[in-house]
Amino acid sequence: MFEETTNKVILEEKQGEAMEMEAPVVANDKKLYLESYGCQMNFSDSEIVASILTKQGYTTTRNEAEADLILLNTCSIRENAEQRVRNRLTEFKHRKEKNPGLVVGILGCMAERLKTQLLEQEKLVDLVAGPDAYRDLPNLIGEVEGGQKAVNVLLSREETYADISPVRLDKNGITAFISIMRGCDNMCSFCVVPFTRGRERSRDPKSIVKEAQDLFDLGYREVTLLGQNVDSYRWNISKKGEIENPEEPTVNFAQLLEQVALVNPLLRIRFSTSHPKDMTDDVLETMAKYNNICEYIHLPVQSGNTAVLERMNRGYSREWYIDRIDAIRKYMPNCAISTDIISGFCGETDAEHQETLTLMDYVQYEYAYMFKYSERPKTLAERKYEDDVPEAVKSARLTEIIDKQQAHSLLRNQAAVGKTYEVLVEGTSKRSEEHLYGRNSQNAVIIFPKGNHKKGDYVFVQVSECTAATLLGEVVENL
Ligand code: 5AD
Ligand code: SF4
Repeated sequence: MFEETTNKVILEEKQGEAMEMEAPVVANDKKLYLESYGCQMNFSDSEIVASILTKQGYTTTRNEAEADLILLNTCSIRENAEQRVRNRLTEFKHRKEKNPGLVVGILGCMAERLKTQLLEQEKLVDLVAGPDAYRDLPNLIGEVEGGQKAVNVLLSREETYADISPVRLDKNGITAFISIMRGCDNMCSFCVVPFTRGRERSRDPKSIVKEAQDLFDLGYREVTLLGQNVDSYRWNISKKGEIENPEEPTVNFAQLLEQVALVNPLLRIRFSTSHPKDMTDDVLETMAKYNNICEYIHLPVQSGNTAVLERMNRGYSREWYIDRIDAIRKYMPNCAISTDIISGFCGETDAEHQETLTLMDYVQYEYAYMFKYSERPKTLAERKYEDDVPEAVKSARLTEIIDKQQAHSLLRNQAAVGKTYEVLVEGTSKRSEEHLYGRNSQNAVIIFPKGNHKKGDYVFVQVSECTAATLLGEVVENL
């Protein structure tokens, strides 16, 4: 799942907790300002980075003006994501002119994609670290402080940061991400991720279960298991399906889900992202079996037309995707489904675009992330196809897709009115101190009067009104 938002990461409130978990090993009076862009995986990586630098004694700040070290964890997925980061870096460059001691570094996908370019040619940063190089950050910072250029963009086949306890950067203390795998082997023709995040590798399930247990013990009540393609999670099984170590059990995604679900019935489990070509019925069966695995699946379709899907190298057809939707509905009639859609991919005709709209009508997604195709360097599509859909057509098609989704989201929310859901309370509503907000299993946000309830409680809420974005309701005794 992808939100094109920036998070000016705020560590201060969590610092005490972070210190409890990991005492700093180096004395330091320096301040870190960390800003993250892109997918949930990137936000989760920022928590690894914060953990590594907290151990170096860094304290964190939400005020960039007082920072000694500024790190931007970046995204390359579309050109406009990169443009926003360049604008930010230019702002920091001005800051550096006034404060020459300031170190500015770039992390994540843009660091990996552009390698030394932002440092050497464009002179926008002092430090470049790709997604598999975060353990090296203390050395890289040392190199910069010693007057050298610092770059590490090596990708790894093994790195999963399994042993690093992330510093939780979210503010609610109730929901957290757990990264279960890294990289991607899929090679969708539009996508830069295989180039920026390297080969797919899964994290040791024991470290995942332990992280979930530790979070539960700290008061967290929901974890989201993250990977580019969670359905291809595998431990102790080779890509060809052979057992690697006969002494150890093998674990696939359905089994991992079960292990995490068993940590505690009060710990909710979510996951992202599922891939339609790999999503098997055993995952759906496991979801249906455990009440604490949320009934929500993010299943990116990208296009509703088989020929476009082929050009995208997605590995499934329209019919296959519909079969997966039907399977979800068979196992979990109330499961919410969201998606990602790209408008105007190479060669997309109007008839092909229409098939995306009819597929949307078939599924009636609860939610969708919708984008115009943006050609990315080095990808299969860039090499093989012409980016030939005019900008105005891409925009017009995107508008049609967004309008349809708005209508579906509203319909879905209207259907929830009158129903009662179990809601995990995440905090006080932004609009009113007298209201709390939380989500139901289907991931819909519900707002309700505070009463005697608090963050981390499970409450039953009967929905009384809605907009396309939110549900409003009242607490009731039970379902
Ligand atoms: N152009 C537009 N959207 C893209 N996505 C990935 N690559 C591109 C691209 N080149 C979208 C896909 C993916 C989501 C994370 O971003 O829909 O699922
Ligand atoms: Fe995440 Fe992909 Fe953006 Fe990298 S390029 S931050 S993997 S969405």
